[in-house]
Amino acid sequence: MDVMVLNGDGIGPEIMNAAIKIINKLHENFGLNINPVEYDIGAVTLDNGKWDLDHILDEARKYKAILKAPMGDPKLRNTGGTEKALDVILSLRFDLDLYANVRPVRLLPGVESPLKSYNNPDSINYTIIRENSEGLYSSHFGGLVLRDELAIDNQTITRKGTERISRFAFELAKKTKGSPKDGKKSVVCVDKSNVLRSFAFFRKIFSEVSSRYNEIVSKYMYADAMAQHMIIRPDELNVIVTENMFGDVLSDLGAATVGGLGFAYSGNISDNMGMFEPVHGSAPDIAGRNIANPTAMIMSTSMMLDWLGFAKFSKIIEDSLFNAIRSGVRTPDMGGNATTSYFTESILKNM
Ligand code: IPM
Ligand code: MN
Repeated sequence: MDVMVLNGDGIGPEIMNAAIKIINKLHENFGLNINPVEYDIGAVTLDNGKWDLDHILDEARKYKAILKAPMGDPKLRNTGGTEKALDVILSLRFDLDLYANVRPVRLLPGVESPLKSYNNPDSINYTIIRENSEGLYSSHFGGLVLRDELAIDNQTITRKGTERISRFAFELAKKTKGSPKDGKKSVVCVDKSNVLRSFAFFRKIFSEVSSRYNEIVSKYMYADAMAQHMIIRPDELNVIVTENMFGDVLSDLGAATVGGLGFAYSGNISDNMGMFEPVHGSAPDIAGRNIANPTAMIMSTSMMLDWLGFAKFSKIIEDSLFNAIRSGVRTPDMGGNATTSYFTESILKNM
């Protein structure tokens, strides 16, 4: 099966190279039938005219799964000041209707949390379901700046969008083992319904959907309180569902609690397609130096294989990766001095 591979910018090609080596190894050793079709798509090739948005979307529609490296070059901006690469990312998410952004926050074996009471693997293990098709981000390409004096972006919350993301969160909770603390399955609706009507509406729709899932505990929390909760009692969490922008911010916070952005992986899922990518950016400051941590890219690959129905291969990737980390192989962000290629070779050796 062909999978679209987007190489991105900055550290993108380096960490994607790690993922592709792993896919190829799974093919050689265990007969995994995935053919990565590489595309040089990112801020740079959008800027130099090699690719345009329509052409990228037409190409993407040919695939069931996309593996995407981080994109972005802070120097390449649109007239309004926004970043060019984000047009690609957000067009893929919006136009392909990849409405559920699934972001696990999981303390992996061998990785240290900065939170001192969380030392064991999976002592933090929950998933942020970020609504990915509306919210404040739906104003991308819209928005208004008037006479250099005033700027407006609007938030959109729809019944349909909130129903489907709430259902997605409950269905996911069903399949989990519950919270690390007590194994209870729960979904927390995160909003600011105390302040904005759009969020009160989000909460109301969530609550309607929750009545069809009596076996799962439904909870409610304001986004600011959740930011605190994620630091103080992350082991009580199982599934969080929230609006697009809050999901963006909270997922970086969650990443910090499990070793940093190098460990934050994700899937953007629709009813018939998925795009898998690290949560982190293209890190231009360390690009080309062979020191980036490829874990998030590799875990995104594993998540893609699992979603495609290749759970066995996803498990092989995770076991080999965790063994490498446990044996002390660490990239600079983890306090070690392994290069990206050495880190990758150590995983391949375990396969
Ligand atoms: C993320 C990123 C993106 C976002 C950017 C690159 C558009 O920060 O996936 O979290 O803001 O959603
Ligand atoms: Mn983000």
